[in-house]
Amino acid sequence: MILAVACDHGAVKLKAAVTEYLVTNGIKYKDFGTFSDASCDYSDFGIPAAEAVARGEYDFGILLCGTGIGMSIAANKVKGVRAAAVTDEFSAAATRAHNDANVLCMGERVIGTGLALSILEKFLNTAFTGGRHAQRIGKISDYENK
Ligand code: RB5
Repeated sequence: MILAVACDHGAVKLKAAVTEYLVTNGIKYKDFGTFSDASCDYSDFGIPAAEAVARGEYDFGILLCGTGIGMSIAANKVKGVRAAAVTDEFSAAATRAHNDANVLCMGERVIGTGLALSILEKFLNTAFTGGRHAQRIGKISDYENK
């Protein structure tokens, strides 16, 4: 598994915790930035990471900002991306199982590091259920391809 990770200035500390978790668990990743806490635009970092996921270069994207919301809005503009801003473990599992989410977004200003890492673990270890959920996702793809 290889992940695309990105953040803005609002989530530099959370990104450090996430990448430490990935290293500890032997999960490869590419860090798309940002690399300092200087004010920046989340779209500059989230969109390239989301595009790389959509091209199939990475299994999942992990996009972090103050709320997780800006990153999710930006990432969901990329065709083929299903990004979910998640603040609890149940939703982390459900968005993989039901939505086949390929990008997880979280907010450093919303949740603590411990919860964020539990969410990440759930997200990475839950498989898509398929079946009726595949049909629903198919309709989103159809809309994207109109
Ligand atoms: C940056 O101040 C903040 O707006 C950003 O990190 C994010 O929360 C946007 O959705």
